[in-house]
Amino acid sequence: MTGQIPFLDLAAMTQEVRDDIEQGWQRVLASNRFIGGDEVARFEAAWAGYCQVPHAIGVANGTDALQLTLTALGIGPGDEVIVPANTFVATAEAVVLAGAVPRFADVSPDTLLLTPECLEAAITGRTKAVIVVHLYGQLPDMGALRRAADRAGLALIEDAAQAHGSTWHGRRAGSFGVAGCFSFYPGKNLGAFGDAGAVVTADPGLAGRIRVLRDHGRTPGSHYQHELIGTNSRLDAMQAVVLTAKLARLDAWNTARRSVAARYRTALAGSPARLVAEVPGMRGVYHLAVVRVPGRDRVSADLAAMGVPTQIHYPIPCHRQEPYLRFADGRLPVAERCAREVLSLPMSPHLTGGQVDRVCAAVLEALSGEEHRVA
Ligand SMILES: Cc1ncc(COP(=O)(O)O)c(C=O)c1O
Repeated sequence: MTGQIPFLDLAAMTQEVRDDIEQGWQRVLASNRFIGGDEVARFEAAWAGYCQVPHAIGVANGTDALQLTLTALGIGPGDEVIVPANTFVATAEAVVLAGAVPRFADVSPDTLLLTPECLEAAITGRTKAVIVVHLYGQLPDMGALRRAADRAGLALIEDAAQAHGSTWHGRRAGSFGVAGCFSFYPGKNLGAFGDAGAVVTADPGLAGRIRVLRDHGRTPGSHYQHELIGTNSRLDAMQAVVLTAKLARLDAWNTARRSVAARYRTALAGSPARLVAEVPGMRGVYHLAVVRVPGRDRVSADLAAMGVPTQIHYPIPCHRQEPYLRFADGRLPVAERCAREVLSLPMSPHLTGGQVDRVCAAVLEALSGEEHRVA
């Protein structure tokens, strides 16, 4: 096999939106309104509508989206927030930055996502909230998680940083919890040309507090009156233009990602390297195409030699990361095992059927002749 397959073809996505963005940036240059303004308001309205909620608040990145949500909910010192151990570190980091304590929960061996049972096992008398992470672009059973959170009186926050447009029984990621938090990091399904993020919520009071917090705690409409200790986490107009242009393509790109995933699923169905499972009623957007494979590091090296780049999301579960050891209070066997076995295959809306077939053939070749078992 020859030629490198891209892990993520950002250039092809940029090419599709280039003209729209250049026109939008001309408007921003003419207006000289670089922070906030019409472009940000337009994107916030479009993003709220897309997520099926009344309010969207643009912020500087996904970590701030989570931290500001926790702070605006009054969660801080003395409180615990449950997060799945299988996530990007920012989920737990935001809890610590808000002054609270992350408590790590294990995940399902099928979906690698949080379950009601794992959530319930982590609840203590200090637990105030749970952050459900839609990792890889997949939602868990949101009805069951919502019921479990309600039973325990916990605020349910969604970390939807990898799940722009995913649905569970027709409802969009971000619309289930008290708030949904998004990252628009460039490599996300909806990615800016720099850092950006947003919170979506149906709660007008929460939306208002996050708007104040993101802008130095400033009283809306005032110049130098500050009602809260906030921070600077504003979305800028240049990024809002990029996000509005890309939002128009998001559904088409997500559909293309689902086709790539379906092709992987079919071709690898009989092999030890199977895509992680989807829960019934869920329509994932495949931010990542993750398989579990014993002997992962050798398989990954073999694939690299065949021109197939892979990545690992994530090689160390959060509760085993050095700064978070002080919050870990026990083994989380599924998260620990999946950190040793997960492998992310190339995933882009622009991958061709031929490229996907080449990846699958390479995976099968890397696995051939070896004894592999996936529990
Ligand atoms: C699951 C998850 N949560 C939170 C974040 C943090 O987002 P950001 O990098 O925009 O701060 C990311 C992305 O990087 C993520 O993948």
